[in-house]
Amino acid sequence: MKKNIGNILALYPTPLVVVGTMVNGKPNWVLVGHVGIIGHDRVMVSLARTHYTNQGIKETNRLSINIVDETMLPRADHAGCVSGAKEDKSELFDCTVSESGVPMIMEAPVVMECTVDDIYVTDGFESFICKIDNTYAEESVLTPSGKINYRALQPVLFEMPTYEYLRTGSVIGKCMSVGKNRDAFLLSLRRRAGKYAAGCGAALSESRCAGTVKRDQRRRGGARRKSGALAGRKWDEMAGMAYGRAAGSAGRSGI
Ligand SMILES: Cc1cc2nc3c(=O)[nH]c(=O)nc-3n(C[C@H](O)[C@H](O)[C@H](O)COP(=O)(O)O)c2cc1C
Repeated sequence: MKKNIGNILALYPTPLVVVGTMVNGKPNWVLVGHVGIIGHDRVMVSLARTHYTNQGIKETNRLSINIVDETMLPRADHAGCVSGAKEDKSELFDCTVSESGVPMIMEAPVVMECTVDDIYVTDGFESFICKIDNTYAEESVLTPSGKINYRALQPVLFEMPTYEYLRTGSVIGKCMSVGKNRDAFLLSLRRRAGKYAAGCGAALSESRCAGTVKRDQRRRGGARRKSGALAGRKWDEMAGMAYGRAAGSAGRSGI
């Protein structure tokens, strides 16, 4: 049963980045955990209105988003501890300045060079909506086909409630594949049925699962599975077990 803990921001962990921009003719670096994706070509960087960085972003309309790896983490952390208004942070990282005047960290494995499209203002914050102009990636973090390999990159993650940095974990499945694995799907359905009241969620899953079962029966001619965690049972039999438990526990509140 869930407890309402208020309007707590719960969307963690997030990737950790250092945002760079020119302020008063010098590079300035700020550590940022509150970044987001908008569509397929824009990102959002949310900054407290009072940060030194903001004036540079608003003056130049440009910034870089530098993904943090473990090697640069101590200096990245420093960029989040002191303001450019108090300390010159321009030497914190070796950098290169793009043709459009954006400072970019040389050692960052991946850097996005961005133009600010819009600023979304909320109480005390300016969230910069940025269009990605160019993305630069070290060859060591690219696959042979030129895609970013996040297993090699190992981006640092940020968690606000504990104020800690985390590593990414291991691969647990392929997208749009785990939902097509009947064993995994039915097992997950049974586990949910044992844990929560069914309600409308059960109806949805029932129809999805029924589809899965029918497809499976068509393919196998109703054959029994020979192996796996749920071996020896027909799909519809297993689904029935799952629905039976869901129906039995229906009526409990909470999601
Ligand atoms: C782990 C971590 C994450 C942070 N994330 C953000 C953030 O998402 N937005 C923000 O405005 N400040 C964030 N900060 C705080 C700024 O990095 C910090 O106040 C910085 O000194 C401001 O630098 P500036 O005044 O030179 O711009 C974060 C700090 C830390 C340590």
